[in-house]
Amino acid sequence: MTAEIIYGSKIAEKIRANIKEEVQHLENNGVRPGLSVIIVGDNPASKSYVKFKQRACEKAGIQSDVIELPEHTTQEELLHHVKQLNEDPSVHGILVQLPLPDQIDEKVIIESISPEKDVDGFHPYNIGRLQTDQDAFVPCTPLGILAMVKESNIAITGKHVVVVGRSNIVGKPAGQLFLNEHATVTYCHSATKDLFNITKQADILIVAVGKAKMIKKESVKDGAVVIDVGNNYLSDGSLAGDVDFESVKEVASYITPVPKGVGPMTITMLLQNTLKAAKQISS
Ligand code: GUN
Repeated sequence: MTAEIIYGSKIAEKIRANIKEEVQHLENNGVRPGLSVIIVGDNPASKSYVKFKQRACEKAGIQSDVIELPEHTTQEELLHHVKQLNEDPSVHGILVQLPLPDQIDEKVIIESISPEKDVDGFHPYNIGRLQTDQDAFVPCTPLGILAMVKESNIAITGKHVVVVGRSNIVGKPAGQLFLNEHATVTYCHSATKDLFNITKQADILIVAVGKAKMIKKESVKDGAVVIDVGNNYLSDGSLAGDVDFESVKEVASYITPVPKGVGPMTITMLLQNTLKAAKQISS
């Protein structure tokens, strides 16, 4: 079997065109959706992620503002900025780029963001609502994964979804989303015993661990759907996923590439969440 490749980049294009239309419609009614991003320090990867987000907002007609704060910013100072954005009616979405410097407690900052402006879906209020299957802001990468699977007409009910990685940003909410879609979900992580025996049982395998090419074809069931969230830079400067794409595509039924797979969907879902926040706040 040779897998069908799910290009997130193509699906993202289609969704972004719809978002752009809706943004225009809202603006015609006097509301310009706005996203404010706060970045603390000079982490080059974070800076480039923020630039991508800003460019995507501009293309979709969403107002985007970036507040750049120095590495030595205190928690109190950052809380003050978040408070101002919470109170600003022209701001519909707030995103504090992670990771934050050591002197700042990420959890405190996340909890300070108004849940109705929490377009990252990291606030415990939104996590709780996702867990109880209520409307919520859902983290962008898991939301993008679900959109890719649905857009590819892959059935989810009753399927065994194995999630490798248990981060708060990707692994945990991804499993929860697929559970809400009536899948049977298994989480694997660094302490999991006999990991590849479990990945081999997956109908849908989601890998988000940050280890280049760790999933080989021997660890994948024939006909499985394989979603690769990895973004690993190799020593030659090239980008690789957590899945050994060339070998796994021989056994999978569907596979996402890296790049042009999950990545473009993540930013698209940020635009979608910002549009949703603008609609809810302005209605
Ligand atoms: N750092 C890496 N990914 C993310 C993300 O999705 N949101 C935020 N705020 N920070 C990140």
